[in-house]
Amino acid sequence: MSPKERIDELISKITEASYEYYVLDNPTLTDQEYDDYYKELLSLEEKYPDLKRIDSPTNRVGGNAVEKFEKVTHAHPMLSFDDIFNEEEIRGFDERIKKTIPNPTYSLEPKMDGLSGSLLYEKGILVRGATRGDGIIGEDITTNIKTIKSIPLRLTEPIDIEVRGEIYMSKDAFFKANIDRRDNNEPEFANPRNAAAGSVRQLDSKITAKRNLDFMAYFIPNPEDYGIKTQTESLDFLRKLGFVTNYKLNNKAHNVEEILSYIADLGKKRPDLPYNIDGVVLKVNDLNDEKILGFTSRVPRWGIAYKFPAEEVLTTLNEIKFTVGRTGKITPNAIFHPVHVDGSLVSKATLHNYDYCIEKDIRVGDVISIRKAGDVIPEVVEVKLDRRNSNVKDFVMIDKCPMCGTKLIRKDANHFCPNEHCPARKIEALTHFVSRPAMNIDGLGENIIEDFYNMKIISCIEDIYNLKNKREELIELEGFGNKSVDNLITSIEASKNNSLEKLLFAIGILGIGAKTAKVLAKKYITMDNLMKASLEELTEIKDIGDILANNVVNYFKDEKNLELINNLKNIGVNMEYKGEKTLNNPLISNKKFVITGTISFMGRNEIKELIERYDGTVADSVSKKTDIVIVGEAPGSKYDKAKQLGIEIWNEEKLKEVIDSL
Ligand code: IVH
Repeated sequence: MSPKERIDELISKITEASYEYYVLDNPTLTDQEYDDYYKELLSLEEKYPDLKRIDSPTNRVGGNAVEKFEKVTHAHPMLSFDDIFNEEEIRGFDERIKKTIPNPTYSLEPKMDGLSGSLLYEKGILVRGATRGDGIIGEDITTNIKTIKSIPLRLTEPIDIEVRGEIYMSKDAFFKANIDRRDNNEPEFANPRNAAAGSVRQLDSKITAKRNLDFMAYFIPNPEDYGIKTQTESLDFLRKLGFVTNYKLNNKAHNVEEILSYIADLGKKRPDLPYNIDGVVLKVNDLNDEKILGFTSRVPRWGIAYKFPAEEVLTTLNEIKFTVGRTGKITPNAIFHPVHVDGSLVSKATLHNYDYCIEKDIRVGDVISIRKAGDVIPEVVEVKLDRRNSNVKDFVMIDKCPMCGTKLIRKDANHFCPNEHCPARKIEALTHFVSRPAMNIDGLGENIIEDFYNMKIISCIEDIYNLKNKREELIELEGFGNKSVDNLITSIEASKNNSLEKLLFAIGILGIGAKTAKVLAKKYITMDNLMKASLEELTEIKDIGDILANNVVNYFKDEKNLELINNLKNIGVNMEYKGEKTLNNPLISNKKFVITGTISFMGRNEIKELIERYDGTVADSVSKKTDIVIVGEAPGSKYDKAKQLGIEIWNEEKLKEVIDSL
């Protein structure tokens, strides 16, 4: 047998063995046999590097580290469902569906608690793995994806297909990863979802390979291309192709009672499952019905995500600790006896401000109940007044800043430290600057920033970019080594290439969140343009009111801020927007659209994206503010309303004409 033939044979044997192990749950090779094949393949590939195939299982160990992930545009937008939380909302969903589809069947699936991923196969070979990103543009994480053993590198059929599913970390892998991190003095992951998200976006795929991620397939964006007629058929087809699906737990329902009983049943099984789930996904099973139901401007109408109620756990309040934010705002925090809530260990929660504490009448020593608000941030739900004993201590608001001792001032419900040079404010500002949604610098958590600040290694934002000249000093510090310093410096250098919106968010203009930062970056393209923007001009932008516009203008009037921007420019930090640029067309830009009926040559989402690219908006319902209604086949009542209000109407022909003219 030629080396090529043997390599082909070994890959087939190993691929088959993985299929039997992961999909069929029925291993046929012993570990020893598997290892022998693997080693033989590895040595053949070393000897004949030209014969190495891209679907070789030896690629699962990861490749060279990259500086950043390339952006990829999803062929079909990666949407998610609306969330619902109770029986009433389930009934509401079913009612809505039944208005269009009188006798729906639903596909019910556990809602995997990880992050969604898209896998692209060409002729049956995995060629790309991507994150969801903003749903339109994601990141290319192919090398990392290949390390996930339950993802087939080659399908059982040589077809072109995109497959969506959840990348997740099993409870077991999560505990093991945290033991590793504890041993290495690294902060532990809060829960398996964070662990999976952190692992899959590692620039060094060798780290991803060590984390033992998994993948559960649940969706094909264009099932009709494979002759598939229902979601359940999609799931069967995926399994046949070599994907792990949740075939033991996925089920069908024909009415609300069956849905409720599935949810109750799954709730019972939940604690014993090897992975976290956070609810049940309901999908209309018949793909024809799905088509008819279509999408709102944001989400599919044919499916919804029911989320299990957040777990509430009792604990005791040990302390109320005050912290200072980057605007000087003082926040009281509840520090309580650590408890597990929805899969992660928590020990503190914000108490927001003075008024909140008084309203809740919270006192040190109280029994309190905790839950996760919006899934991640712990909050105090309630003080158990009936369990209060006489040892509790009254809540006392501080009157001086806990960091610098300056007398606090009060504005409405909040207290502020008015000292602009308060170290707490500086530390917060630095922590914000490096955080994930801001400049995304890995390896500078809040505690490290605080240490560096106290050791005078970092006193201002510019100092972060000077860390590369302090290598020797850093390596000497406890918890740092060659590797972690290297990684930190790589991450700092990479942040220089961030698109403008990240920098705009990072510098902390009052009230400018990540979303508004993006709106501004997209509109002005460069920092210089934005710095020149007038108050009137800014106020005209949708999403930006008088207050925000004022904050922006004031920020750029301040000499200190101008100096910071100038310094960052000199350091080489990118000051331009790199994302998709907004285009301009008088027929679409700044106009409000509503779409009704089916457009034969284009999906509703595609139309929406197009309109948004030209800076128009698409709304769900017709009102006086609507500028144009696009009317397709079988329009709904929106058409009548548009005629009634005398709104401009575009039929298919007109739409086509406009699109052709772009
Ligand atoms: S289907 C159009 N099926 O939950 C939505 N999603 O909003 C297509 N998820 O972001 C997704 N388990 O990451 C689907 N069995 C399942 C799922 C699932 C978990 C996640 C997914 C999505 C969110 C649903």
